Amino acid sequence: MKKICYIIIIIASTCIIYIALSLSPIFFKNIPNTNPNPEYKIIAHRGASSLAPENTKAAIVKALKLKPHRIEVDVQQTKDSTVVLMHDITLNRTTDGEGLIKEKTYRELSKLDAGSWFSKAFTGEEIPKLETIIQLINGKCELIIEIKKGHDFYPNIEKHILKLIKKYNAEDWIFIHSFDDNVLMTIHELNPNIAIHKLFVGKLKFTPFIVSNTIDRLDLEKYNYIKEYSINYAFANKAVIKHLKSHGKKVNVWTVNNPKTAEALIGLGVDGIITNNPELLHK
Ligand code: G3P
Ligand code: CA
Repeated sequence: MKKICYIIIIIASTCIIYIALSLSPIFFKNIPNTNPNPEYKIIAHRGASSLAPENTKAAIVKALKLKPHRIEVDVQQTKDSTVVLMHDITLNRTTDGEGLIKEKTYRELSKLDAGSWFSKAFTGEEIPKLETIIQLINGKCELIIEIKKGHDFYPNIEKHILKLIKKYNAEDWIFIHSFDDNVLMTIHELNPNIAIHKLFVGKLKFTPFIVSNTIDRLDLEKYNYIKEYSINYAFANKAVIKHLKSHGKKVNVWTVNNPKTAEALIGLGVDGIITNNPELLHK
């Protein structure tokens, strides 16, 4: 019995040490900002989502005032094929409605309140169409669109988004990112000029294995069409940043809301800080 206990303790300790090694050094020590990337970008996550309800027009207007380099938004699609801004596939968390967005028409969504859950000051804030947000940003900064679910869930969503990018002649300032490889490949095949970023949580040190809900290995050859990677900041260690950069890719980290953490990550060489607070490190 004693022997089994020792074995379990040794295996558990090894796992804990291994996971700790895979985490960013920002958790363990103060990193001097010795090798900062002077070109780093501030990316407003879901708009200025610390100041206004995420993925609404108000959050985009607030973000634009703070002049981030980029704004990131999430999109879903209605039953009548309108692409709208929303993080979740259901209305429940951020509106006064409920149910799946794919089962509602845009007319039904337009009656909902997407602001009150955040604060009474935003009562009546609407769920915006992606098209409205593209018109609003109009190249004043770059826009990253996260496609949460692809054509298997939302018929032709990739085509609908690409049509909007074309309509507004926005190929050079709108980028696509997603956790889902099928989405990324579909976009690339439909329009190879669109810059594509791959989202995943993190890479396990000394292995090609990654933490992700969609794939388990990071096969950089397969991802030669990917321009940038966006990973969870908890996994942003020097090894993974160096590994991705040595393949000519940029590395962004999400979601960083503490200025000291952001500075440390810039010290490690990351290229972009995705933050709910775009004032974080304003240059
Ligand atoms: O930008 C990365 C980040 O947006 C991915 O997570 O859940 O905030 O969309 P989530
Ligand atoms: Ca997102």
